[in-house]
Amino acid sequence: MLALKNVTKKFGELIAVNDLSFTVEQGQIFGIAGPNGAGKSTVYNLITGFYPYEGEIVFNGKNLSGMPPYKIARAGIARTFQIPQIFPSLTVDTSLNVGSRFGSGTGLDPAHVDKIIEFLELSEDRFTKTNKLNLMGKKKLMIGAALATKPGILMLDEPMAGSNAREIKALMDLILRINQEMGLTIIIIEHFMKVLTELTQELLIIESGSMICCDSPEKATRDPKVIESYIGDAYAENN
Ligand SMILES: Nc1ncnc2c1ncn2[C@@H]1O[C@H](COP(=O)(O)OP(=O)(O)OP(=O)(O)O)[C@@H](O)[C@H]1O
Ligand SMILES: [Mg+2]
Repeated sequence: MLALKNVTKKFGELIAVNDLSFTVEQGQIFGIAGPNGAGKSTVYNLITGFYPYEGEIVFNGKNLSGMPPYKIARAGIARTFQIPQIFPSLTVDTSLNVGSRFGSGTGLDPAHVDKIIEFLELSEDRFTKTNKLNLMGKKKLMIGAALATKPGILMLDEPMAGSNAREIKALMDLILRINQEMGLTIIIIEHFMKVLTELTQELLIIESGSMICCDSPEKATRDPKVIESYIGDAYAENN
């Protein structure tokens, strides 16, 4: 469904993404992990067309390389950001309608927005200004705005950051429902290994922009290279 082929991104001297190739299959939850600064968010920025790069990114047979971000959104790729990005002066309802109007390429779809608000259990906050939402509300809103664009793939960047155990559980359930009930393919960048091993079918580990391993979460978390570079012996001993 989504394939990166020998993708490289340099910021001056720094090689943020180094000759990276991987494929995400339709219907999967695909995980990405790696140390801080490994290049995870940059991978999303390249897929969504924020920067030029070497190599090729293909989505459903369409070559995305060189396409502007709005066209990539309309091709069916949606993302959330590591730090919640919202329109603070708009209500939840208006924010989702903006996503629907500008992201989908098919215009406003009030019934679709209704469905998302119900799915995310945001009805009570529908006419609340987004800057009044708590962190969980902002996270759901950001996911909702992404869903409003009617994507084929949803890319989440550290959705659990800053959440407590109860919120992490709620977000994991939500991600599973989006995958299973909405039938969406999902990519998730996350630091919590337990979240990745529970949610994903395939796990890509990167370090300094390069692939360390891409395998089932069971195998990836036992890969000696991964343990050495990222997870640490403590995790291996406890699991
Ligand atoms: N626009 C930019 N200009 C210059 N350097 C950048 C830019 N964006 C990212 N980098 C650098 O590229 C490297 C990878 O950054 P990136 O944000 O992709 O890491 P990450 O894996 O998402 O890390 P984290 O876990 O901290 O979010 C870092 O060294 C970062 O400083
Ligand atoms: Mg990041």
